[in-house]
Formats: sequence, structure tokens, C-alpha cells
Amino acid sequence: MAENLLIAEGGKQDRYELLYKQIVALVDGESDEIANMANIAAMIHYTFGFWWTGFYRVVGEKLVLGPFQGPLACSRIAYGRGVCGTAWQRRESVVVEDVEQFPGHIACSSLSRSEIVVPVWKDGEVVGVLDIDSKDLATFDQVDRLWLEKIVAELNR
Ligand code: SME
Repeated sequence: MAENLLIAEGGKQDRYELLYKQIVALVDGESDEIANMANIAAMIHYTFGFWWTGFYRVVGEKLVLGPFQGPLACSRIAYGRGVCGTAWQRRESVVVEDVEQFPGHIACSSLSRSEIVVPVWKDGEVVGVLDIDSKDLATFDQVDRLWLEKIVAELNR
């Protein structure tokens, strides 16, 4: 893989296009899921300058913190709890424009204002989630959702 992350100038679409190409190249050369989660979290985080970017993995009955970039986070999240547990339960991505309006939101950081959580799939089961937090309101939309779903699909291709 390239040693340096390349970040496209311009808008979200351009940034995701270049980011995705680099992630595909990275995953092609590495089979370890944790290593790939770690580099994918870093690549997303530094491409966009988000507040917190990381993975939680399903371990037994809980989501357990995995590779991430950003401040300390909760280690374990129950099924159906918070935005992460809700995405796991609903088996679909959840976009939250204002975390204060989301019932049961788990505030790992009071600076987080909006959030997106995308399930990671393996053999038809949710095996984890990608969680991204922003310090701004309404950072994430359907463009993020589609690209991030494409990105996490690379983990279990
Ligand atoms: N806010 C998340 C918890 C995880 S942290 O933000 C990293 C939630 O409600 O699921």
C-alpha cells in the first residue's frame, strides 16, 4: 500500500473516491481484519478530520471497542443501546443529524454533535459497526452512508 495517505482536494465525493481506491489497494495486500480496521479508521479519520472514527466488534452479547482514532471511548455497548447498538439491532446504517435528539444516545464525548454508524457484515450477520462522530451538526448524509457501506464491505470481500 502507499505509505502516505493521499487526500483529494475538493468536495466529499472526490475525497471518498480517492479514499476508496486506497482502501481497496490496502485490503488487497492484507488479510488480517483488525489490521485493516485500524488502517481504514485512520484513513477515514485523516481524510475528513472527523472527531472520532472507529470500529466496534460483536463479541458475544456486546459490541466491544476495536481499532479507532480519536479520544477515549466506551469499551462495551449493549445490543439496541445508543446509535451503535441500534444499528446492530436494526441491521442497517443509522445517520443522526443531532445526537441530542437521538433517544438513548451514548455520549462518550460531550463534543460529539452528529454521528453515523454503518454495520459490518460477514456471512449475512452483523459482526461489527463502523462509528464516526463529528463535532458539527448534520455532518453525515446519504453520500457518506453509501461510500462508508462500500468501504466496510471491503473488510469481508
Ligand atoms: N455515541 C455512540 C457511542 C460510541 S462513541 O460515540 C465512540 C452511540 O451512541 O452508540
